[in-house]
Amino acid sequence: MEVKTIEWLDGKVRWLNTLMLPHEEVYEETTHFERVAIAIERLEIRGAPAIGVAAAFGVALAASNYRGSNVDDFKSFLLNVVSRFSRTRPTAVNLFWALDRVKSLIVNHVGSVDELKDRLVKEAIKIYEEDIEVNKRIGVNGLKYIDDGDVILTHCNAGALATAGYGTALGVIRAAWHSGKRIEVIATETRPILQGARLTVWELRKEGIPVKLITDNMVGYVMSRGLVSKVIVGADRVLLSGHVINKIGTYTVAVLAFRHSIPFLVAAPKSTIDLRTKVDEVVIEERNPDEVRYVLGKTLITLPDVEVINPSFDITPPELVSAVITEDMVVERPVDINLPKALNMSLR
Ligand code: MRU
Repeated sequence: MEVKTIEWLDGKVRWLNTLMLPHEEVYEETTHFERVAIAIERLEIRGAPAIGVAAAFGVALAASNYRGSNVDDFKSFLLNVVSRFSRTRPTAVNLFWALDRVKSLIVNHVGSVDELKDRLVKEAIKIYEEDIEVNKRIGVNGLKYIDDGDVILTHCNAGALATAGYGTALGVIRAAWHSGKRIEVIATETRPILQGARLTVWELRKEGIPVKLITDNMVGYVMSRGLVSKVIVGADRVLLSGHVINKIGTYTVAVLAFRHSIPFLVAAPKSTIDLRTKVDEVVIEERNPDEVRYVLGKTLITLPDVEVINPSFDITPPELVSAVITEDMVVERPVDINLPKALNMSLR
């Protein structure tokens, strides 16, 4: 049934290489933290919660394999490892949230090298287990937005393959399906990396949830024909102002959903909510231009030297968002007012 995207196995990290899907299920494993960092950069492991978990496992690996007994040397080695992981991808806040958790253990540790090793492994496993639990709660909280007979459009992959398990947007879809609601999913292919076509379709098929695939430029047409009743996506960062940063193309889907009065739902754990960053400070990852020039690195579809713009994420403003569903609160429109209120914070 559901896949094990990433796990800690007796001092090793094991993950499903999502670049090989849907044609091959290839599991990779390593005892070296650098290999985990490279897997995040290459998108073998991707999706905001999954990269947070992977980074925490990576730091735990580095700690476990350290040979030395001086605590101060150990701490400075670990802080370099944390900084290595913080440079892997800039946009998903879950990465920095997970790294902050392990960093505070490192900085505040009083005790031996072995005790710190043990605490870091336990913390990484805790981050992993919490993520699965949190996703299940998001699924339950999202249930009320899904009706029997809904056709739900989702963009990118916010499923088990983007998390430690179960998924955020696909978690809500899973919960609705298992509660007996007859639903169908429309997955957008999600150029240029095709997370929708390769991962969402694969993941939903595996579970028997009906899914149809469209190319990204078909969204407006299928909405205008009344073929979509809800949209649900995940997020890489939700700002206190209600701006939602997610896979490139999400903003287009949100504008179209608004135009056709279709609810636009965002499912994300509270660890995705960024209380500090303002919208103009968000770093949108710009990836290798060859991702656009080639399809999946194989077929050149344009002139090899054409200039390319390849932002990996975009920003959806709060007025287009119907609700943000988290593990312990649901915030409805107007999210720019209701999100700070729910978190007991005010906008600076
Ligand atoms: O570049 P990716 O594949 O890491 O982008 C992933 C997304 O944009 C997801 O929608 C987001 O991380 C939410 S995953 C629960």
